[in-house]
Amino acid sequence: MWTTERIVTNYLRKQQKVSLLPWLSKLHRRLPVRVYNRLMRLVNPSKVNVGKEWQRILNGNVFVGPETHLVGAQLHAHEPAGCFISIGAASNIACTIVLERRSSSIRIGSRTHIGGGTLLDAACSIDIGDDVLIAFEVLMLDHDSHSLLFSERRNDVRDWIIGKKDWTHVKAAPIHIADKAWVGARAIILEGIRIGEGAVVAAGSVVTKDVPAWTVVGGNPARVIRTLTNVERGVA
Ligand SMILES: CC(C)(COP(=O)(O)OP(=O)(O)OC[C@H]1O[C@@H](n2cnc3c(N)ncnc32)[C@H](O)[C@@H]1OP(=O)(O)O)[C@@H](O)C(=O)NCCC(=O)NCCS
Repeated sequence: MWTTERIVTNYLRKQQKVSLLPWLSKLHRRLPVRVYNRLMRLVNPSKVNVGKEWQRILNGNVFVGPETHLVGAQLHAHEPAGCFISIGAASNIACTIVLERRSSSIRIGSRTHIGGGTLLDAACSIDIGDDVLIAFEVLMLDHDSHSLLFSERRNDVRDWIIGKKDWTHVKAAPIHIADKAWVGARAIILEGIRIGEGAVVAAGSVVTKDVPAWTVVGGNPARVIRTLTNVERGVA
């Protein structure tokens, strides 16, 4: 029987000489995660370019495009079931990734750099586009870690010591960083934040609100400093 999967597989076999990963990684924000994950498995069955340790930790759900470097990058997954990581082509990733709970995910596009000492800490998802620069020692947290109510966080340390974590009362929401953005050193990006295309986050900023495309933001809390010119956008 000709299932969609079979048709796609046959098509991909015919395209063996052409790497489809860069092309497919562009779809990463347009397809439902389940469909995207399935396609990535078809395109990248050998899981080239990825340390065995990461594949073991995430049960094979790590997809990395050609010419991407992961030198110095580290992965920790507390509840690996359903978690996944996908990274496009020609990216340079030196950060630490923490997947906090079931089905947490990290998606990074192509030609993107993430510096050493940066932490991507996802309880939901962190989605970073193409041609993005993330400097060193940036913190991206898509959750608050603890409840604001003392009564609800009273036992967090005790639970932690025995390897438990109750996320019921913890605020969490996905982070999105659009294509061509630049996040300066030691910036902090909090849960639910969307950073627009080409936006620049100045070093040391604490970003608590969405950042409009092609603006420079800075400070704590980060405010718009100015709008980038057409020359700076590369459209003049
Ligand atoms: C944002 C940045 C690119 C400068 O942009 P710019 O448009 O040239 O900004 P300017 O230096 O002209 O400063 C404009 C205003 O922003 C303020 N500003 C600049 N950097 C700031 C920062 N990190 N935090 C808060 N305010 C900042 C300036 O004080 C100035 O304020 P004023 O108008 O009240 O005097 C630069 O400050 C920066 O943060 N670079 C990141 C460097 C980095 O992290 N590199 C790591 C390698 S990827």
